Amino acid sequence: MAQPLKIVPISFKVNGRPVSLEVEAGETALHAIRERLHLTGAKEGCGIGECGACTILVDGKAVNGCLMLAAQLDGTSVRTVEGLSEGESLHPLQQAFLDHHAVQCGFCTPGLLMSTVALLEEHPRPDRTTIADGLSGNLCRCTGYKQIFQAVEAAAERKKENTK
Ligand code: FES
Ligand code: FES
Repeated sequence: MAQPLKIVPISFKVNGRPVSLEVEAGETALHAIRERLHLTGAKEGCGIGECGACTILVDGKAVNGCLMLAAQLDGTSVRTVEGLSEGESLHPLQQAFLDHHAVQCGFCTPGLLMSTVALLEEHPRPDRTTIADGLSGNLCRCTGYKQIFQAVEAAAERKKENTK
């Protein structure tokens, strides 16, 4: 006889908003965020921690949503790509990606943006090697990375100018 599904109640914040959900014990954080909260920016590419398309920030750290259990979100603060813009205004990093043609098909973009947010928090003035290392878990099939790295450098420069 099939075992009944174990349901786990969780409460956490997503983009500053408190949410409470009942999730299945084996459900991924990515599934809960996409299918239960309908925040579909984070993508499922590989589902096995290889591509970074599912990257979200959990308590400020970039994580692969496909490898984390939804139950582990309990008590955390989650940031997704939907939380970057303010109303109609793009986040400066989003604008830099557009300005530098770092978006082509766009499938990798939400994950790259979230990894970059975490990277720039830790390294406000990253050199090219630090950027490449910081984004090494995010695969892009389209751009060849050059435009992405340029966008990250431009965003870091702009942030530096704004904090002078
Ligand atoms: S979908 Fe999570 S790393 Fe690829
Ligand atoms: S823009 Fe297409 S995979 Fe990166």
